[in-house]
Amino acid sequence: DWTPDVFVEATVEGLKKQLGDDQVVLGLSGGVDSSVAAMLIHKAIGKNLHCIFVDNGLLRKNEFEQVLESYKGMGLNVKGVNASQDFYAALKGLTDPEDKRKAIGRVFIEVFDKEAHAIQNVKWLGQGTIYPDVIESVSVNGPSVTIKSHHNVGGLPEKMKMKVVEPLNTLFKDEVRRVGRTLEIDESILGRHPFPGPGLGIRILGDITEEKVRILQEVDHFFIQGLKDEGLYDDVWQAGAMLLPVQSVGVMGDERTYERVVALRAVTSVDGMTADWCHLPYEFLAKVSNDIINRVKGVNRVVYDISSKPPATIEWE
Ligand code: XMP
Repeated sequence: DWTPDVFVEATVEGLKKQLGDDQVVLGLSGGVDSSVAAMLIHKAIGKNLHCIFVDNGLLRKNEFEQVLESYKGMGLNVKGVNASQDFYAALKGLTDPEDKRKAIGRVFIEVFDKEAHAIQNVKWLGQGTIYPDVIESVSVNGPSVTIKSHHNVGGLPEKMKMKVVEPLNTLFKDEVRRVGRTLEIDESILGRHPFPGPGLGIRILGDITEEKVRILQEVDHFFIQGLKDEGLYDDVWQAGAMLLPVQSVGVMGDERTYERVVALRAVTSVDGMTADWCHLPYEFLAKVSNDIINRVKGVNRVVYDISSKPPATIEWE
């Protein structure tokens, strides 16, 4: 029978033999897969694993700092690279979702490539590819192929001429989590909701500006923190907020306002292929809506997405 302890022991032994004294570079995302892959390789080769964590300026509020700290706490040799301005510059004026994804993917590769080349003698690219990713990349099931091509560093190997090491490529997500627990990775990383590689970039409908990112980070923070505070976070598969490209009329005292509208989305799902909107308690939605409208300047209306997938995808773009 498969157990995480046996898997860890066997994999670490295998990695030691495979990698010897070689240097490995790996891109961390803050998600479960890359974190578990990194810890396994770290257990095998220690400081010869060089991790890179890129801030694309489209992460959740305070996420870069917090996740970087927890990676350091795990003993990983990790370099945080704040490349936000490069991403904003590449995104300037882009409104089409696929154009935005491509721009984000391209800048990520440029930044990662530069950082990887700054490390002496790197022979291997470590990746958190899991079994379903392996299947997806060979099947032709529409958008998911495109999705993977943008966010995974899968485009890198040919370009960078490195060998690829993927210690999780036989595992399913729940097995990855169990391995992560055996490795004593923080629950805040293991229990994290999925988050798209292009981040808030595909949750700001239309063009992206720093101001919009700041507004959406605040909105998203009230929603996600609220889910955690109310003990609802683990019942939800994925949640987030979308900044809509519409303004709506409001009143403040005697004044009319004309401000932004945000949509909240929370879904239950098994694998993201289908999803149901979550029946979150009305009192919870009421509180979050009040918090957002009272505390986030520039937003005067909150709506809740009650659409399931199919046909409504989890992300709006
Ligand atoms: P959709 O919106 O297609 O999303 O229902 C299904 C799952 O995939 C995530 N997603 C992405 N992940 N790059 C990613 O890394 C992307 O471009 C992308 N688009 C969607 C989405 O957050 C959900 O978990």
